[in-house]
Amino acid sequence: MAAKIVAFMNQKGGVGKTTATVNIGAFLAKEHRKRVLLVDIDPQGSLSEHVGLSTRELGDSIYDVWIRGADPRRIIRRMHGLEVLPANQELAGADVELPRLPEWNVRLRNALSGVREQYDFILMDCPPSLGVLTVSGLAAADLVLVPMEAEYLALLGVSQLLDTVDMVKRRINPGLEIGGVIFCRFDGRTTLARGVKADIDKHFPGKVFAAVIRQNIRLAEAPSHRLPICEYDPKSPGADDYRKATVEFLERFGIASDIPEVEVETDAGDIMAETPVIPEDAAGRGEWQRQPLWR
Ligand SMILES: Nc1ncnc2c1ncn2[C@@H]1O[C@H](COP(=O)(O)OP(=O)(O)OP(=O)(O)O)[C@@H](O)[C@H]1O
Ligand SMILES: [Mg+2]
Repeated sequence: MAAKIVAFMNQKGGVGKTTATVNIGAFLAKEHRKRVLLVDIDPQGSLSEHVGLSTRELGDSIYDVWIRGADPRRIIRRMHGLEVLPANQELAGADVELPRLPEWNVRLRNALSGVREQYDFILMDCPPSLGVLTVSGLAAADLVLVPMEAEYLALLGVSQLLDTVDMVKRRINPGLEIGGVIFCRFDGRTTLARGVKADIDKHFPGKVFAAVIRQNIRLAEAPSHRLPICEYDPKSPGADDYRKATVEFLERFGIASDIPEVEVETDAGDIMAETPVIPEDAAGRGEWQRQPLWR
């Protein structure tokens, strides 16, 4: 069976996209024996660094696959039982180069289709923007998983995010669906966090993961040790939360888990012509509206 491709996507920065991609990927591989490919499509290269690859000394990267048409199998690296298609700063240039190439918005999809049979899941870590890289990621994905922070500003980006997913679905990738929303740095003790979660539930009915990831210092430390949480501190609250989230990920995304079910805590703690009107959230808008994203 071909891999399910999931884009971890939210244009807001620092909400936990990379942490979620690495740790759900690691639990899928380690505790569920899934074959997982992590794809870094963020020029920051945070995912690549998190799993132990030095972005300065990377050599070939996803840039070579995406822009130069290299075979991904030559570039994929093995780290902690996962396979990783890494990125580094070179990918920043793709923002300009990619739209000049024919069929630019399906180049990533076409590249990944060649390795899809080898995996159960391909998880893509998107950059914090709605530019050409993210649009290409959405064009390649079956499902979007939205890592979210439970704070007021998170609500303001939601309509922009939904409009972008909807546009990619209509114009490039009719099979694309929002698979879920997961709260990744959750402090359930605050009224604000609980209120935001309730509001997000209304925007994404039935899609919000019951499993939440609480704030946990071990999750913040793990990248500096270049390890997923299941290797760095498998008994930490952060590991517990990602373990449960991974079980729910498997349940929601339609592939049975290989281990017994774990009880989930619910109360823890250019688009030019069609650019959606986003009155509240103007951050970054000028930048992505300038890009001729649709040809
Ligand atoms: N549950 C958590 N508890 C504590 N720290 C966390 C948690 N989740 C993520 N972090 C930390 O928060 C920071 C931002 O997380 P992360 O890099 O995963 O976000 P991101 O959405 O990928 O960011 P960007 O938009 O820059 O790509 C990192 O330092 C990470 O270690
Ligand atoms: Mg990131």
